[in-house]
Parts: sequence; C-alpha cells; structure tokens
Amino acid sequence: MSEAEQARNIDELAALARQRLEPGIAEYLDGAADDKRTLRANTARFADVGIRARRLVDVATIDTTVEILGERWPSPIALAPVGYQGLFHADAELATARAAHSRGQRFIASAVSTEPIGSIHAAAPGSWFQLYPTPDRAVTARLLEHAEGAGCPVVALTVDVPTLGNRERGLDTLLGMLSDGRLKAGNFPDLEGELTIEDPSMDWSMIDWMRERSSMKIVLKGIVTAEDARRSVEQGVAGIVVSNHGGRQEESDRATIECLPEVAAAVGGRCAVLFDSGIRRGTDVFKALALGADAVCVGRAYVWGLAAGGEAGAGRALDLLNEELVRIMRLAGTPTIAEIGRDLVETAS
Ligand SMILES: Cc1cc2nc3c(=O)[nH]c(=O)nc-3n(C[C@H](O)[C@H](O)[C@H](O)COP(=O)(O)O)c2cc1C
Repeated sequence: MSEAEQARNIDELAALARQRLEPGIAEYLDGAADDKRTLRANTARFADVGIRARRLVDVATIDTTVEILGERWPSPIALAPVGYQGLFHADAELATARAAHSRGQRFIASAVSTEPIGSIHAAAPGSWFQLYPTPDRAVTARLLEHAEGAGCPVVALTVDVPTLGNRERGLDTLLGMLSDGRLKAGNFPDLEGELTIEDPSMDWSMIDWMRERSSMKIVLKGIVTAEDARRSVEQGVAGIVVSNHGGRQEESDRATIECLPEVAAAVGGRCAVLFDSGIRRGTDVFKALALGADAVCVGRAYVWGLAAGGEAGAGRALDLLNEELVRIMRLAGTPTIAEIGRDLVETAS
C-alpha cells in the first residue's frame, strides 16, 4: 500500500501533498485571499457547532444515500470543481473523476480543467459541469454546448468571481505554467493569449441567458446570504452551493458553516442546498447536514489526496471522509441522513 493509502486523516494527506509538490504549487493549492482569515474561519468555526448525540438507537445499519436533483447518491459527499488538476498530478482530473466514479460519488468538473469535459465525463459519467463565464459570451456558449454534448446533466455557475480574490502567493506559479505551455486548459484548445474567467458585468440575467442555450439543470455556486438564496429560488434554479470558494475570494470573515443556517431557512426546501468550504472531517459533513445542507462538496481534501498518490490518494481522501461520516452517524444515533436534523447540533449563537 502506498503512503497516501495509509494516511489516517485528511491532514496527513495534506502533509504528504506538501512534501511532493513544488512549493509554488503547494502554495497555490493551500492559498486563499488576503490574510487567509476566511480560510481559517471555514475550518475553525466547525468547532463552534456541537453534536448532541442520541443514545440507544439501533445503528447496526447506516444508510448514507441521498437524493439530489433526482439523482440517487450513495454518499452525500461530492467533489467540488477544482481547476487545472494537472498541476497536482500527471493524471489530473482523470484520476479524481475515476476515484469518484468507482465510489458512485458525483464529480463536478471545472471549466478550467486540464482535461477536456468530454474525457472527464467518459471517466465519470453523470459528472456535473462548473461554468465560469468569459466576457466573450460566444466562448461561454460553446462551453455550455460542449458540456451538454458530453452528457453533463447539471451546470453549476460560479457566482463569486466578479474579479479574482487577492491571493498573494502561488498564483504566479500557475500563470507562469500557463503562459509557457506547461499547463493547458483542456476546454479551450484553440485559445491564444490569456484566458479570462471573470466577467464583472454578469448579473441575475445570466440565468435566463443560460436557459435559452441549454437544458442542463442550473445550480448557483457561491451563495452566502438569505437574500441571494431567496432570489435564486425565485429564479427557479435547481440548487445552490453555499460556498466561499474555500476562502479564496472575498476575505469575508464569515465561515460558510455560519452562512448556512440563514440560507437554508430562506430556501425552505424549495431547491437543493449543497455546502462547501472547510470540510476536513466526517463530523464537519455531519454538522453541515444538520444545519440544513442536503449534501456537501469537498475541494482541497481530495486534491491533497491526488497530489499525495494519484487516483488511489484521491480515493483514500474520499474513503476517509465516508468512513468518518458513517462513524459519527453511528455515534450520534442517526442511521439515515434524513435523521441528521437541526436537533442533533447546538451552535454558540
Ligand atoms: C486549487 C483550487 C482550485 C479551485 N478551482 C475552482 C474552479 O475552477 N471553479 C470553482 O467554481 N471553484 C474552484 N475552487 C473552489 C472549490 O470548488 C471549492 O469551493 C473549495 O475548494 C471548497 O473549500 P475546501 O477546499 O476547503 O473544501 C477551487 C479551489 C481550490 C483549492
């Protein structure tokens, strides 16, 4: 067994990844905005949520399946879109997509993946596509067409990048590798010059624009307030992801686990609520589910696994989180995901 497969937790996979990656690439992966307070808050504030374990429940059988957007998932943990995975391992998204697919877990492919969406979807049928709009809407339309043509049933529009967050370390390494051709953007084979993924003019009209061009279900990734959650429901989206991009965009000093209750209350079950940013343990997954998420996504956790040991390393990250989730469900007396209700946690406020 490889070292990555022997890792006992996500932190050990992260440590292995840091040993194996070039320093600039490790910094890019670990990187976040400004002084990284939001990044730290994302993980630290899980500790402000306590679990109210129930006793004397039959937990011999644990069922972690969930239904999300009409899909039946064996685990409520999906893989968040992470761009340019060729930075972390030669097999890039093919390794992580395979790790996800062999476990029945949903992979969300980034618009700026190293491998093209067609190859990723072939490795993990049913994968969702994450869209960054480019200011050139003809390019955006082509991306949508490729994703739908590849078979993706869902498009997740990332809405928290009107401009790139202020990441002071690691980004130069990525840009250097793109400009000297060591790294490619698989969905943009003909692109010459710099690829722009920010469109500061994008507003709520983008949803109708997408609907006119694609019949994929639409999910908005990056919602952090009740106001925007309500607006998302009014616009008829299929789901939202409560996310602050892993602390890489605005230094908000608000962990997503703090944003989740107001968003879930505003949605009131009218669309799917996914959650990401800061998940490193199965107990974090449990707390997010208890505070209103229908499912969660993990980003760095599986990418550290990829960097530490390719497909097997990414698989180890997923197995660890799934096993930890099953363990806390048993310990807390919740044999099914539906039973992980608000009464299973207490928060400081
Ligand atoms: C290296 C890296 C690249 C990312 N690339 C993308 C991307 O291409 N599209 C996107 O919507 N989010 C991207 N994200 C954000 C993730 O989808 C997700 O929101 C975040 O990683 C969740 O936080 P976590 O890493 O603490 O789990 C990226 C995150 C990281 C760490």
